[in-house]
Amino acid sequence: MTITQAPSAPLVAVVGATGRQGGSVIKALADSEKPYRIRGFTRDATKPAAKELVKLGVEIVVISLVIENKDNVYKAFAGADAAFLVTNYVEHFDADREIAEGKLLIDAVKASGAMRVIWSGGEPASQISGGKYVHLYHWDSKALVTQYGRASGIPFVEVQAAHYAQNGPAPRMTLRPSKQDDGSFLVCWPMKPTTVIPVLDVVHDYGLFVRQVLEAPVFPNGSTVAAYGEKIALGDMVAQFAEITGKKCVFQQISIEEFQSEVRAFVPPHFVLAMADVSQYLEEYGHMAGHTPTSPELLARRPRTWAEFAKIQDWSSLFA
Ligand SMILES: NC(=O)c1ccc[n+]([C@@H]2O[C@H](COP(=O)([O-])OP(=O)(O)OC[C@H]3O[C@@H](n4cnc5c(N)ncnc54)[C@H](OP(=O)(O)O)[C@@H]3O)[C@@H](O)[C@H]2O)c1
Repeated sequence: MTITQAPSAPLVAVVGATGRQGGSVIKALADSEKPYRIRGFTRDATKPAAKELVKLGVEIVVISLVIENKDNVYKAFAGADAAFLVTNYVEHFDADREIAEGKLLIDAVKASGAMRVIWSGGEPASQISGGKYVHLYHWDSKALVTQYGRASGIPFVEVQAAHYAQNGPAPRMTLRPSKQDDGSFLVCWPMKPTTVIPVLDVVHDYGLFVRQVLEAPVFPNGSTVAAYGEKIALGDMVAQFAEITGKKCVFQQISIEEFQSEVRAFVPPHFVLAMADVSQYLEEYGHMAGHTPTSPELLARRPRTWAEFAKIQDWSSLFA
């Protein structure tokens, strides 16, 4: 545990400190032998996650990192040597807002004089697909912020998070196995079972990749890091889930139309298009296809595979 208050230690400002990515970054830095001062942002210091961070020695700053609060956002990064930045698209499903807030964070860090920015970016899907898939708003918006960050002049690295392993058991995610009348489970997605996706236990492992960037002998300015534990075919994920849990579970490829009518119940109308595009894009281009994986020897430890995640997961609510 090396979170310190010593002024000689670099100060890392962490957005999303109470969340999965930012929380993972703080945990990874706390596990490092190198000392860090850490400032974590939240809108609510009374949250259990914020209180836990205080116990770890994190300086908690209460702030809403939105455009309307621009002056305070600038002040919030004062004195930081490095910053981890993430935006939360799924809280509002508004790409323009995500872009504006992402740019604001970069401007604020730049004004603070911090010398290293690590940003949780996304794949430029419209660009990669030559305009074929234009509804991946939450990836394209992050990619635009990446472009902005790279042009800003501050040393800037993008660490993209892969598909969360946590999406499997999460309520309302389509990768969640659904119980059938005969007690077996079905996972329905509009993709072939051979479609390969990168998977990440975001809470346990995302921070490893950020730490590796921060502690690299030379800050890899301008690079993109693809953070994932393994790439795995959807059918294999489901087969491993069945083997690990001892439940009968099969993958079923459904049509885009069936998929859209299923997800319409729990995402805004425009995001129904995004979810359909994600599926087709993954099948056609793969996710993080163009990125060299980080060699596990460079990380503080090896990230988890899907099977390792599934083995320690509490699936009881799913089986109830
Ligand atoms: N699901 C996936 O497979 C996946 C994969 C890759 C990337 N992503 C992306 O990951 C991002 C979400 O990251 P996450 O999973 O770490 O989120 P999360 O666990 O839901 O946490 C969100 C964090 O953002 C903070 N936050 C949100 N709005 C804020 C505001 N206005 N001011 C200050 N802090 C704010 C929250 O702080 P407080 O609530 O404490 O204020 C919280 O710490 C999304 O943009 C999503 O698109 C998701």
